[in-house]
Amino acid sequence: MLSSLIPASRIATPLPGQRTILHGGDYNPDQWLPDHPDILDQDARLMREAGINSISIGIFSWAALEPKPDVFTFDWLDRVFDAQQKLGNAVILATPTGAMPAWLAEKYPEARRVDRRGLRAAWRDRHNHCWTSPAYHDRAAIINAQLAHRYKGHPALKMWHISNELSGECFCELCRAKFADWLKARYGTLDHLNSHYWAGFWSKLATRWEHVEPTDYAIDAMMIDWNRFNRDQLIAWYRFEASILRPITPEIPITTNFMGTSWNIDYATIAGEVDVVCDDQYPAYDADSPHLFRAAAHNSMKNSLYRCFKTRGELAGKGKTTFFLMECCPGAVQWKTPQKLKRPGVHRLEMLQAIAAGADGVSYFQFRAGRGGHEKLHGAVVEHAIGLSPDLARQSRTFQGVAELSRLYTRLAPLLGTGVAPEVAIVHDWESRLAQRFSAGTGVSNERYDDVVVDHFEPFFARGIPVDVVSTGHDLSPYKLVILPQLWVMTPLLALKLRKYVESGGTLLATFDTGHTDESNRIHIPGAGDKTGAIPGCGLTELFGLWVEEVDRLAADVPRALKTLDPALGTLAGREVAALTHLTTARPLAEFADDFYAGRPALTVNTVGRGHAMYLATRLDAPSQVSLCNHLIDRAKLTTILPHPLPPGVTAQLRGAGNDAFLFLLNFSTSPQTVNLGTLTLTDLETSEPVTGATHLPPLASKVYRAN
Ligand code: GAL
Repeated sequence: MLSSLIPASRIATPLPGQRTILHGGDYNPDQWLPDHPDILDQDARLMREAGINSISIGIFSWAALEPKPDVFTFDWLDRVFDAQQKLGNAVILATPTGAMPAWLAEKYPEARRVDRRGLRAAWRDRHNHCWTSPAYHDRAAIINAQLAHRYKGHPALKMWHISNELSGECFCELCRAKFADWLKARYGTLDHLNSHYWAGFWSKLATRWEHVEPTDYAIDAMMIDWNRFNRDQLIAWYRFEASILRPITPEIPITTNFMGTSWNIDYATIAGEVDVVCDDQYPAYDADSPHLFRAAAHNSMKNSLYRCFKTRGELAGKGKTTFFLMECCPGAVQWKTPQKLKRPGVHRLEMLQAIAAGADGVSYFQFRAGRGGHEKLHGAVVEHAIGLSPDLARQSRTFQGVAELSRLYTRLAPLLGTGVAPEVAIVHDWESRLAQRFSAGTGVSNERYDDVVVDHFEPFFARGIPVDVVSTGHDLSPYKLVILPQLWVMTPLLALKLRKYVESGGTLLATFDTGHTDESNRIHIPGAGDKTGAIPGCGLTELFGLWVEEVDRLAADVPRALKTLDPALGTLAGREVAALTHLTTARPLAEFADDFYAGRPALTVNTVGRGHAMYLATRLDAPSQVSLCNHLIDRAKLTTILPHPLPPGVTAQLRGAGNDAFLFLLNFSTSPQTVNLGTLTLTDLETSEPVTGATHLPPLASKVYRAN
């Protein structure tokens, strides 16, 4: 029965021919070798004991690899490669461009970034190079080519890791000139640019391309463009580094690590560049928090987004692969306050949550904690208390937790390369979030973008119904239900896609703040002959059968009473925002019940073709989101995996292909819970015991069952 609910086909794993879940970490032995020449042997022993099967090496090692210009010291790295090969481990080799050595910063000041005040940075920190600097390009090309030639053909080399968490902006003259070229390519003429920028505002009409000032918040469309430009700078840099490596090692996949849903880096676009999608995640779940389940839902929302980058629709790019959680922490994260230890069970929950969502690799920052430096108090597989002693590793809670996971992962091998096949998609759009952020006046709405996405994700997560989180470019046709939270930017092409989706039988739910602006963040307005308003834009007023007149934006959590008109919806309550709409063909399902807009629609439905377009004019509170989710399950006839509702704090996730179906039960609560599996008969992956009916989950437990 379980296997009938999952997709039949397999896709590629992060590493070609991968046979186990990747379980490894950033490894920095170069920081240890000068004082501890035997560190490689000690670590090999510990890696074997922990079941570590891959390492990411050399991420910030430029000074250790090229201590002086064109003087290369690869001997230590040779030894690491050979030691890893003996262990049978995969080496993920980084290019070291995420941090420049002193000689480079000194010899080529242009390589250092210039900040928004026009000041060239001192040699400090990391992730600090100018994107345009010819000298930095030259030096990166040299070290990358050296690395590629040296390790080409080494059996342990399995993947390239370009730089680290590519991010940031540079305001030097070279980058500004490149921005001017980027604008010319996008707009062609200054008249066109001025029109898109609404540049008559505060006399901002540009008469030379160089007049466009990337720090000028007055022109919101320009701020969005500056972010798009920086995304393209990042892509150009990635492509540049990859162009050095690819011809020398054509068979080795190339990637870089992303940072979740960072507001200013449009990973949905960048994902098309990399061979494997990798995320860095530090949720630092607080087991004692009343918001633990919400935090888990937030993380699963991100996992679903990362899964979909390369497994669904047009963004599949260079072929479909599962994703890789490149960095996370087995212990306490030093940059979180307070730095609370992970409670027993929490790390395992976090890892199985990622694997359930489609990850085929879960790795750490880092394998061994450093003794000094800014990150010395960051959790690691080998923490300070273990030092160099395998005996102490056997007594370490964190280390043993990692080792236990390794044993479980070997049993999970049949799910490698498999996916998840949801009937529901939520659209996550970086452009909309960015555009709202730069629209002074949308108040809290721009800060809570991801939160509103999670509002809609969480009730499905709590019902054990899988959800894809996709970009606007994805194909929506596989889904029975599509949700658009705050899809602020609307283009004619996207509107057409949404219309077709509904006409052919889909259920579409859009929230307040959908379709307010075009791609230059100009508000959609009605034309002279129009009889209705123009929001939601690009003709979507017709699809939703309503138009938005004005929006009441309230402080966080200010309630809005609602009256439900359809008894099947139960009781609903709104908060924070009220879009005041006029209905044309839509039917109200709920209305506002207080303030001057009592009686105005709060939730509506419009029947178009074979489908339904719904509009939610407020942010619902959590219990109301559950009621709405139940209504949507019925309306869109969604499949539920488990026959009975799940207890609070528990999610069920299904992953697999063909006859390899795995059910994950994850208890994100500190209370014991009982899940009713009904007549399903499964096998506990660890105990091999049969499981059916009422299944007991201790606090913070995570279980994996196999379909028989
Ligand atoms: C990541 C970064 C790592 C390390 C880690 C600490 O963002 O890529 O190098 O700094 O954070 O949590």
